[in-house]
Amino acid sequence: MSDATAKKEERRKFQAIKGTRDILPPETELWNRVEQTADEVFATFGYGEIRLPIFEPTDLFARAVGGETDIVSKEMYAFEDFDTYEFSELLEQRTALLTWQVPPLGTQVFEPFIIYTKSFYELAARSFNLRRIPATPGNQSALDDILRLQDKLQSVHGQGAEKSAPLVAQIKERVRDVRIGDSLALRPEATASVCRAYIEHNMQQLPQPVKLYYTGPMFRRERPQKGRYRQFYQIGAEILGGTDAPGIDAEVIEMLMTFFDKVGLQGATLYINSIGHNALECRRGYVEKLKAALEQVKDKLGADSQRRIDTNPLRVLDSKLESEQAIIATLPHIADHLCDECKTHYAEVKRQLQVRGVLYQENWRLVRGLDYYMRTTFEITAPGLGSQNAVCGGGRYDGLVELLGGPPTKGIGFAIGEDRLILSLQERAKSEGPNSPLATRHSPLLYIAWMGERAYATAIRAAKDLRKAGFSVELPPVEQKFGKALGQADKLGARYALILGDNEVSEALWTLKTLADGTQQKLTEPDLLQFLRDQKPVSS
Ligand code: HAM
Repeated sequence: MSDATAKKEERRKFQAIKGTRDILPPETELWNRVEQTADEVFATFGYGEIRLPIFEPTDLFARAVGGETDIVSKEMYAFEDFDTYEFSELLEQRTALLTWQVPPLGTQVFEPFIIYTKSFYELAARSFNLRRIPATPGNQSALDDILRLQDKLQSVHGQGAEKSAPLVAQIKERVRDVRIGDSLALRPEATASVCRAYIEHNMQQLPQPVKLYYTGPMFRRERPQKGRYRQFYQIGAEILGGTDAPGIDAEVIEMLMTFFDKVGLQGATLYINSIGHNALECRRGYVEKLKAALEQVKDKLGADSQRRIDTNPLRVLDSKLESEQAIIATLPHIADHLCDECKTHYAEVKRQLQVRGVLYQENWRLVRGLDYYMRTTFEITAPGLGSQNAVCGGGRYDGLVELLGGPPTKGIGFAIGEDRLILSLQERAKSEGPNSPLATRHSPLLYIAWMGERAYATAIRAAKDLRKAGFSVELPPVEQKFGKALGQADKLGARYALILGDNEVSEALWTLKTLADGTQQKLTEPDLLQFLRDQKPVSS
């Protein structure tokens, strides 16, 4: 490889990780506008913003979202977290042990390994007893095994590698299992965190319900495609505490649709369902019936659905597999198996949506992929997104706060997939052209073309005044011929060029050129400010 190629390779090395991306101007303008609109609309419904950590204990998500869900079992970015300084000795011993190679010949050479194992065990067991490493059943059993295997290794020492080598492998395996730090995970969603914060800050003592919203990145190791990323962004809202009156469900959905309308999303469809509650006379009874029905058609289902019959039969209803659709259509519907209370609740949610003028479609297959839901579930799809067309999902989750160690608490909320919302808005903007209210232009309003030292001083002052008045100004740092400056202004998409030469400075009359039609006018500084104020805003 030549030097030049090697350098090129070297330069190519750093790219955004698969499933993550940079969001650049002018697109970021639309992101900001969307978040600003959420902030404004949600505030009119009484929501305050909560800012949450990006990582939390892995167990929080396992408990809340469900250990069997795809999100937790397959897609979480989890890692062991510990202070490398505090555990440097233990880490060194672990490395020495794990990198030790079984020698090809000889018997006495196992001695170093036995010594490493002993000192690792002693230090780890002491840390375990002092609770400096997690005092979990997993660690307890790994340490017990290491001690047992170490004794065994000691007892076969000198009898040949055939007896010792398998024990070395087993010891290494169990040493790997000792967790030095806590397991943390990048958040795959934020409802669990909001509930954790509700409990941690005793929010049940505040006037109920507590209404919170959040925006920010979430992380799921999914297969990337259009509208599906490994780092994606959500705008979510949760209502915790107080009543589970259907009016709450209907108002949350009303707020969501108000937001989508205000932000300019067109063609959105709201789907709703009720999945009842976890009792034999309600959802649990239904799941039994569903399971039985699925067993009857098991051999016609794909591998994923077959597995789900045992792990999570409701999720079979979510299947997008073409070959399963006709079979799924014949399965029992949950609506026919809801208890009276859940039935009444659902009917009232629907009535209240009508009262609020919110259009919806019922979808009996809408069960959602997270375990915490009960009763009302909903999803919104938007056009222009291909197969990943769910732009928002949500539902009721009474009981989740309690599951996480808090008091019995009602809860409901949603999360909007901001990436998908933006994609759909961009599709709309594309079809409407540059005059679309959603079009973004990251361009200065005004480009100052100056020539000469005196003009530069005036230009600096003018830029300061104009920016102070809120106008976007581009001031070139080096002198350019007027022709070149105007070309540059055009390239940047500026609306106006302010021409400042010696004449303009001495007359105190500045030349303003409208770049679209080439017309020019002479203005004093105050007139210029007034003229710009009278113009329509550049974007939005
Ligand atoms: P979710 O349905 O998992 O619900 O996600 C909500 C939305 O986030 C989805 O409808 C989708 O728009 C977006 N989304 C999910 N995964 C990805 C991805 N890999 N790439 C891009 N966008 C994605 C929840 O997260 C619940 N916490 C919602 C909730 C709040 N329920 C009650 N409160």
